[in-house]
Amino acid sequence: MTLYRATVIDTPANPFTSDAGTALRVEQDGGVLVHDGRIAERGTFVSLQAAHPDEDVVDLSGGMLLPGFVDTHVHFPQTRVIGGLGMPLLEWLDKCALPEEARFAEPEYAAAVAREFLGQLVRGGTTSALVFGAHFESAMDELFTAAGNVGLNLTAGLVVSDRILREELLYTPAQAQAASQRLIDRWHGQGRMRYAVTPRFSLSAGDDMLKVCGQLLADNPGVWFTSHINENRAEIATVAELFGTTDYLESYARHGLVTDRSVFAHNVHPSDAELTAMAAAGSWTAHCPTSNASLGSGLFPLGRHVEHGVGVSLGSDVGGGTGLFLLKEGLQAYFMQQLLGTDGRPGGTGYELTPTHLLYLATAAGAAALGLFDRVGDLSVGKDFDAVWLRPDEGTSLAVNLANSADAADALARVFALATANDVAGVWLAGRQLS
Ligand code: GUN
Ligand code: ZN
Repeated sequence: MTLYRATVIDTPANPFTSDAGTALRVEQDGGVLVHDGRIAERGTFVSLQAAHPDEDVVDLSGGMLLPGFVDTHVHFPQTRVIGGLGMPLLEWLDKCALPEEARFAEPEYAAAVAREFLGQLVRGGTTSALVFGAHFESAMDELFTAAGNVGLNLTAGLVVSDRILREELLYTPAQAQAASQRLIDRWHGQGRMRYAVTPRFSLSAGDDMLKVCGQLLADNPGVWFTSHINENRAEIATVAELFGTTDYLESYARHGLVTDRSVFAHNVHPSDAELTAMAAAGSWTAHCPTSNASLGSGLFPLGRHVEHGVGVSLGSDVGGGTGLFLLKEGLQAYFMQQLLGTDGRPGGTGYELTPTHLLYLATAAGAAALGLFDRVGDLSVGKDFDAVWLRPDEGTSLAVNLANSADAADALARVFALATANDVAGVWLAGRQLS
C-alpha cells in the first residue's frame, strides 16, 4: 500500500443538479491510501498516517491532486493535424482531416501515431477517454494494443461510413459489421478497454449502415455508442436533405442508437425536441469548445442542455480542437458561456460556470457519460487511483497566482486560467505512475 499526501480536490456531487457551492470536496492536507491500484481509504494525512504508520508515504505537497481527466471526444488519427485554421467543418474534413486519416491504412503508421497520441493524452493528465478511432481495422488493433500497454481507460471503435467521404474510407454495411464485430470480440472488456460502435456521422452513414450499427449494439450488451450531431449548419442542412427530416437525432433514433450508452459530440444547434428525446433516453453530449470556436461551428447552448436534463461532458475533439489538454477545454467552455452572456443582459443565454462546474466537466461528468462513475471520475474510496498532480514550477505565473489564491475554488479558477500540460508533475493510471 502507498499513502499519498496532497491537497486533494474533486467533485463527487454534480454541481449542475446540486448546490454548486457545496459540490467541491477539498482536503487541504489530505491523505489517499492506495492498494492494488484502488483507493482504499482517504481523509486527512495526519489521521491516515496514524492509522497506517508503516506504509510508504509519497509526498505530493504543493499544487493540487485532481482526479484524472476524462476526454469524451477525441480523434486518434488526427493527432498530427492539429491547428488547421480558417475552414468550416466540411472543408476542414476534406482538406485537413480525411487525407491524414487515409494514411492509417498502413499499420506501422497507425502504431507510431497511436503511441504518440496516448503519450500526449496521458502527459496532459487524461486517464480515461472515449476515442473516435480510425477507418481501418488494423489501425484499431494498434490503438488497443498501445492503450493496453499504457493502461489508459479506453473506450473506442472503428469509424464506419458508406458514402460521401473519400473512397478508401468507405465500407459496405456488411463489411463494417463484420470488422466491428471482430474488434469487439478481440478487445471489448480486455483490461480497461471497451468498444464503442462509431458511425462517423449521419452525413456519411446512410440508413443501411446505421441499421447495422443498431444491430451491433443489440448483439453486444455493454458496448458503447458514439457519433457526431448538430455541429455545423451546412452539415445539418445536408443531413436533413439526405434523411428527409430536420430532426438530426431521429436519423440515429430510428435505428436504436439513442440510448443511455450513447455520447453525441457537439450538439451546438439542437432543437428542443432533440434535447427532450436525449434526456428521455439518458444520452450525453460531449461538448468540444475549442473545436466549436476554431471551426466556427457556434456557441454551445449549455443552459438549454441543463434545463432539459441532458448530461454534458467535455471533449478535446483533436484535431478540430486545438490540443489534448482538458483544462484548456474547461477554460474555453467558460469563455463560450460568457460570450453568450451570463450577467442578465437581455438575450443572454449563457450558463454561469464556476470553477467547480469546470472541474466536474473535466472529470466526473465524463465518467458518468461513459457509465464509469463507479470506477473513476473522482477520488472516492473504492475507485481506481487515476490522478493528476498539478504543481507549477516556482516563479511561473501559475505558481505566483496559486500562492495568492484565497481558497480552493479560487486556486482552481487560476489553474483553469493558466495551467498547461507543463504543469502536470505526475499522472497515475490505476495506481501506476506514468514514468
Ligand atoms: N464530423 C464528422 N467527422 C468529424 C471530425 O472528424 N471532426 C469534427 N469536429 N466533426 C466531424
Ligand atoms: Zn469529432
